[in-house]
Amino acid sequence: NWCENTDPQKHVFEDLGIASYLLTYWRQYSSTFDKPIKFVDLGCGNGLLTFLLSSEGYTGLGIDMRRRRSWSLFGSSLYLESLIDPHSLVLHDLIISGQYTFLIGNHSDELTPWLPVLARQCFCNVFLLPCCFFDFSGKKFITNNHDNNTTQYEQYLSYIEKIAEILDFNIKKDKLRIPSTKNICFMLHQTNENNSIDSIRTHLLDHFGIDITLEHADPQIPNHQASCSKSKPEFYSTKFSIIKFLFEYIITHNQSLTISEAYNILPNELCEQLKCENGGLKSIILSYRHALYFDPQTKLITLANPQLNSITLKQKKS
Ligand SMILES: C[S@@+](CC[C@H](N)C(=O)[O-])C[C@H]1O[C@@H](n2cnc3c(N)ncnc32)[C@H](O)[C@@H]1O
Repeated sequence: NWCENTDPQKHVFEDLGIASYLLTYWRQYSSTFDKPIKFVDLGCGNGLLTFLLSSEGYTGLGIDMRRRRSWSLFGSSLYLESLIDPHSLVLHDLIISGQYTFLIGNHSDELTPWLPVLARQCFCNVFLLPCCFFDFSGKKFITNNHDNNTTQYEQYLSYIEKIAEILDFNIKKDKLRIPSTKNICFMLHQTNENNSIDSIRTHLLDHFGIDITLEHADPQIPNHQASCSKSKPEFYSTKFSIIKFLFEYIITHNQSLTISEAYNILPNELCEQLKCENGGLKSIILSYRHALYFDPQTKLITLANPQLNSITLKQKKS
């Protein structure tokens, strides 16, 4: 019944491996957790991992900004289609009031560095399997450390480890038996001897330039530099900025755009950043379908109609 474009030979095997690891770990260490395990899989994609863990008796929720066909196959009630903003109080509320205890970031892209921060604020533990390298600003992770003996992957893992260390997690690093070469995961446990939230805030600001009390990431501050707080009250990522720019352009000019027109009106800075993103402009627009709509027939981009998501549209057509 596989209805995704990804190769099931690789993907299913990979998620079975991750699920087996998590299940074994949770069973082995269940006595060390003071609350029952309930998980949220952030950036769950097609939702297979969420489905496997739920099928084994763990209550959980998969969240992704783009609904997948598989969700209805696995059981739609397991999933939530929503753009995750790690600063959103609605998200914090959902995690805390739902008594979720584990956040899962399985190849969670731009969300990866934010997961430990979110977990720290919502009293959760974390399973993190980093794949693509993103920093707090949603841009590609770049380091000034040009040590030839360490790969970019190793440096990214150290960056994530540093974040977890500053947030005072008990850190376990492990190697998974999965097909992917990006197979190092982190298990981050809340400790009892936590630093005060104020000292954690200061550390995050000094090391990464983010201020969790002002609820923003400042894209101008490289991740390894100390800096002072600046105000930019918005979750920043290249994809988000592109969509926001096009959205505002279409509203202001009351005009639909072709993909090449959209590309041509983007400011140079965003065009440059777009080159570093996975997928092109069209795939970014498709992944923000709650904001912009790409009509496959006319090939035009318009504002999305919030009442017509992909499911209702298909139902209406049929
Ligand atoms: C590389 S895919 C991994 C999907 C899945 N975890 C897996 O391993 O198959 C990253 C996923 O994160 C989702 N994502 C990234 N940023 C997000 C955000 N801010 N809010 C919601 N979903 C997000 C994307 O839509 C995408 O499905």
